[in-house]
Amino acid sequence: MRWQVRPSGIAGEAAVPGDKSISHRALMLAALADGTSSIRGLGDGEDVASTVACLRALRVRIERSGDQVCVQGGALRPPSAPLDAGNSGTTMRLLSGILAGQPFDSVVTGDASLCRRPMGRIARPLMEMGTQVDTEDGHAPIRIRGGRLRAIRYRCDPPSAQVKSCVLLAGLFAEGSTSVWETVATRDHTERLMRATGIAVDAKEQTVAVHGPARPRAFDLCVPGDLSSAAFLLAGAAIAGVGDVTVRDVGLNPTRTGFLQVLRRMGCDLETSEEREEGGEPVGSIRVRPAPLTGVEIGADEAATMLDELPLVALLGTVAAGETRVTGAGELRVKESDRIATVAAELGRLGAAIEEQPDGFRVRGSRLQGTRVQSHGDHRVAMMLGLAGLIAAGETIVEGAEAAAVSFPCFGSTMRGLGGMIHDA
Ligand code: S3P
Repeated sequence: MRWQVRPSGIAGEAAVPGDKSISHRALMLAALADGTSSIRGLGDGEDVASTVACLRALRVRIERSGDQVCVQGGALRPPSAPLDAGNSGTTMRLLSGILAGQPFDSVVTGDASLCRRPMGRIARPLMEMGTQVDTEDGHAPIRIRGGRLRAIRYRCDPPSAQVKSCVLLAGLFAEGSTSVWETVATRDHTERLMRATGIAVDAKEQTVAVHGPARPRAFDLCVPGDLSSAAFLLAGAAIAGVGDVTVRDVGLNPTRTGFLQVLRRMGCDLETSEEREEGGEPVGSIRVRPAPLTGVEIGADEAATMLDELPLVALLGTVAAGETRVTGAGELRVKESDRIATVAAELGRLGAAIEEQPDGFRVRGSRLQGTRVQSHGDHRVAMMLGLAGLIAAGETIVEGAEAAAVSFPCFGSTMRGLGGMIHDA
């Protein structure tokens, strides 16, 4: 599928799908819980569907009625075939932590992109905990020999919420305190949801620890909107706004809001309102009013807290005065695509003055000219290019636009609702 995009301005109010990170964690903890959990507002993208499919293959009963998903927790059963995590790194890495503690063996695989991503980073701590984990030279398919685990203290470098969560989930099956030390605080949804379900989690300075063995209580949860999806609407407002854009009921977890701070620093008029807490997570509405933007510098610590939003920073850099520079973001190279290479190549095709660096990029204000560009099968690259088409002269064709369904299936219709001329072609 491709999008045909024409220059257009956006304004208005919209909502976004449920947070993908929280949705994966809610499904997995519900599957382990004692009793039936109810989840509302679950993310509707393909990644979350991959977690549902894997859990069903482990014989977990998951039923949907309208917006409510009921998960009957209990013992997982051996899968009859390899588990397919699709495009979802979070499914593969978090589920592996749970599988390590099961009294059976499993194999987890995924699509071509996921099978290229590094899995040694979870195999190492799980092996330290006593599990036999075999990978194909550090890549999926991963074979996990489930069994008894021992608690470990693990230093997570590079910082990764997926690795931290994998170890903490495995820690639920180990005797004693399993702890993870990270150099930069990554998203803490696992810790928050574990606490909300009655599991003792200690977080001190840069270390988080879980005391096992432990089992979550069944729970009722309403998943907030995904800030990483909202970020596309906010960036759209910043580059192509013709009035306010407001996104309602979005998660505002401080480990995820780095992009909002960067938007402000670039000169955006941004306000949050109706702030409250739901299910242990801060939630609110975000309004952006367009304003002239100025380039910014983003270093390693800040980049680590907004990795998924960095493709948008590159796009913002094309309309900002001066230079925008991102460094210390080498992790972008091992996402759904090599996002440093794909973002630089495709924005470059549109005429952006962008320069790829080993661990980031530099971009200067430039005039974009519509042409044919490519998502490289990466949902965030697809949507960023869709936005670029709103400000590029003439017509932009985004090939591989179906990738957006991984996290934000209704991105095109949401943008059209705000006035953006992004059409399936
Ligand atoms: C995620 C963590 C991040 C992020 C990904 C989702 C999660 O990855 O990029 O989209 O849900 O834990 P890393 O933790 O590997 O950096």
